[in-house]
Amino acid sequence: MLVLGIETSCDETGVALYRLAEPCVGAAPGHPNPDRPNSDRSGLLAQALYSQVQMHAEYGGVVPELASRDHIRRLLPLIRQVLGEAGCSLEQIEGIAFTEGPGLAGALLVGASVASALAYALGVPAIGVHHLEGHLLSPLLAEAAPAFPFVALLVSGGHTQLMQVDGVGRYRLLGETVDDAAGEAFDKTAQILGLGYPGGPAVSRLAEAGRPGRIKLPRPMLTSADLNFSFSGLKTAVLLAARRQDLTDVQVRADLARAFQDAIVEVLAAKALAALDATGLQRLVVAGGVGANRQLRERLRAAAQASGCEVHYPEPALCTDNGAMIALAGALRLRHGAAHARSFSVRPRWELDEVAPA
Ligand code: KG4
Ligand code: ZN
Repeated sequence: MLVLGIETSCDETGVALYRLAEPCVGAAPGHPNPDRPNSDRSGLLAQALYSQVQMHAEYGGVVPELASRDHIRRLLPLIRQVLGEAGCSLEQIEGIAFTEGPGLAGALLVGASVASALAYALGVPAIGVHHLEGHLLSPLLAEAAPAFPFVALLVSGGHTQLMQVDGVGRYRLLGETVDDAAGEAFDKTAQILGLGYPGGPAVSRLAEAGRPGRIKLPRPMLTSADLNFSFSGLKTAVLLAARRQDLTDVQVRADLARAFQDAIVEVLAAKALAALDATGLQRLVVAGGVGANRQLRERLRAAAQASGCEVHYPEPALCTDNGAMIALAGALRLRHGAAHARSFSVRPRWELDEVAPA
């Protein structure tokens, strides 16, 4: 089943073509068979991404109206590009998946309306996908795809959640942040350090040069008995430390970035392991933009290995928003016979454990 995926929930226009191999037939997802013609192979056939980061950078964050207008400009050329790269025609598409929510209402509407209109014209189903379900299933695009059930640590710009995942659409919330998301804490720390927007990759790069232990920061809720997180106090602690330090010194800025990253990585890793403990599961999946963080990946890999567990990530480029994860989630739902309608909606606010089981 060949599915076009469209992601427009925030500041990235993502488009991808994914073919779900029929069960037991053809190559495994993500593994094109080089012996077969391009348009026959399964897995991720092509993807394209346009990031609006540059456009929003001068405002220090995403401007929703500008985001919507830019999605309108980019979407059709990206769809043409992806079809061209995959060697597929529009008529071969068997379903169109779009991000229904959560996200910016105007931005979501662009993807939803293009997907629905195209699906109507082609006479194929359009299917609305939960953005976080896309992130959460994205490790299935990797070579060594995890089997269900697993624990998922979802760490993005808007969410920090631990989920028990028993199958497509079968999600149980184990814990989440009570205030800021992990990505938000990275972005705010970047702002304090004068690194601009978005901050995660910049903080992470700066932290590489930082000396561990030079600046002390708290580990919020590290020892709380639950699986929740809190990062707003950490952001305040970074701000207070910044006021005490000489931020004109690049080494001091690097030390502060390192202190922040050490604190957040320690808490995320400890809670993820506690979630494995609490559920008795042995497989951890990390998804969402912060999942691209090298220190977090290394820490979790080492900790999981020490306790005999597996840890799975999407490749770093698929940790942040993309069309491939939406195409994959849509294809899996369509295979499970997901219902679809001619009318469409978007859900700017939508909890992942409210999605329908597949
Ligand atoms: O999943 P995502 O692309 O978008 C949302 O759905 O929110 O996540 C974006 C977030 C941003 O806060 C960004 O700063 C953070 O992920 N991020 C990182 C890294 N790359 C992106 N945070 C830490 N280290 C990174 N390497
Ligand atoms: Zn995302």
